Amino acid sequence: MSYYIGLDTSTTATKALLMDANGLVVGIGRSEYDYDVPRPQWTEQSPHLWWRATAEAINAALTTSGVDGGEVGAIGLTGQMHGLVLLDEAGEVLRPAILWNDQRTQAEGDEIRERVGSRRLIEITGNDALTGFTAPKILWVRNNEPEIYANVTHIVLPKDYIRYRLTDEFATDKAGASGTLLFDLAQRDWSQEVLAALDIPPEWLPETHEGPRVTGVITEEAAQATSLRSGTLVVAGGGDQAANGIGVGAVAPGIVAVSIGTSGVVFGSTDRPIVQPEGRLQAFCHAVPDAWHLMGVMLSAAGSYRWFRDALAPDRAFSALDKQAAVVPPGANGLLFLPYLTGERTPHPDPMARGAFVGLTLRHGLGHLARAVMEGVAFGLRDSVELMAKEIELGEVRVSGGGATSEVWLRIVTDTLGRPVRVVSTAESAAHGAAMLAATGDDAFESVAEASRAAVTVGDEIEPTADASVYEEAYAVYRDLYPALRESFRQLSELETD
Ligand code: XUL
Repeated sequence: MSYYIGLDTSTTATKALLMDANGLVVGIGRSEYDYDVPRPQWTEQSPHLWWRATAEAINAALTTSGVDGGEVGAIGLTGQMHGLVLLDEAGEVLRPAILWNDQRTQAEGDEIRERVGSRRLIEITGNDALTGFTAPKILWVRNNEPEIYANVTHIVLPKDYIRYRLTDEFATDKAGASGTLLFDLAQRDWSQEVLAALDIPPEWLPETHEGPRVTGVITEEAAQATSLRSGTLVVAGGGDQAANGIGVGAVAPGIVAVSIGTSGVVFGSTDRPIVQPEGRLQAFCHAVPDAWHLMGVMLSAAGSYRWFRDALAPDRAFSALDKQAAVVPPGANGLLFLPYLTGERTPHPDPMARGAFVGLTLRHGLGHLARAVMEGVAFGLRDSVELMAKEIELGEVRVSGGGATSEVWLRIVTDTLGRPVRVVSTAESAAHGAAMLAATGDDAFESVAEASRAAVTVGDEIEPTADASVYEEAYAVYRDLYPALRESFRQLSELETD
């Protein structure tokens, strides 16, 4: 029997998930790292960290499961989207990668809208020029680091740098490529019009492939580092959100995937490219061939809870904080939290948005604050669900990610959305989705949808309770806060020192 690896180069760790040919997870290896914040709103990471972590994570997955590397039939790649990796002619990294949650490119967003035309940009790419996307980062390097830009020969996304190290090939997947803002959503290929308007040489970009398509094989050198067999297939894979969609079974219209990871995402598959005229929801290609998806992204979901723990209760385990939050009533006694700690994308595309506790009184303690953070994230997810409901029919809601492992948070999300939800049991659903793409590419399954049906297991339906009405009222207050505070956020950003 063959095994398959899904490799997720995420923001905080590389995860290698080993799956058998029936879709069952047999082992997970992980290797963690941090990212740098060289200035407020900037986030960077060395691609060399990812490569070291790749070897460690794959070796750990093989060792813990007792599977020999030679039994792995194919690898599927996934990872953080939108990040910019610049390489020179020799394939050497020119500067640290600029990550998806970096917010430095507001001026370049304006430059892109001006060069391409705001309406035309959304028509072609499906999206507005949000700070996190790749194209504004390329322009930022051109505008601010011309000596580095002069040496650029290849532009790749984070997981495609790993593909290059594994296979010596430059290639990417259509889901990831559609997150660059250089991609024609309907044509499923690079947009020559956008590239020309931005004066970016098309030859710097790799060829794009559908998710299960084989893009190369493991080299001798990579085989030594990873304990895999040289010649092992590497398939295109997908950006982490598209791969996560597969990992939770959102492979066709109907099922809506809500993920509570560092970022928070509401994801719905579509069978045609749906573009909102104002581009508030993101529209990308799916890693399922010839499918698309819509998505709302909050930049700090579980990231908000982690910040809260690290800043205010560094000695406490998340489970202990959960317990304190669970005994606080819904609505946290009139306390609200705005989760815009790293700016926001959906529904407020604003790099200067900031986090806030609103409504503090003397009676609020740590448990109230913890609960308010969880509720604020749930309200942010609801914002995206409301936007999505205007475009597509919402069916079953499936929740995944670290936040879904917290009983109290899951209850809060269910009641806030006011819809039944089911939890997907695999903790690493993006890596699982990537492994399914690998298995499909190696013909273990006939289609990605078949792989997903076989491999995904979901828990029982969780029904909303009567608390939903409390959240309904608190949500109405929450919605008014961002417009009321927007200008203050801008002024506060200006007060910030480096
Ligand atoms: C998706 C997005 C994040 C990153 C982080 O658009 O920006 O999900 O991919 O993992």
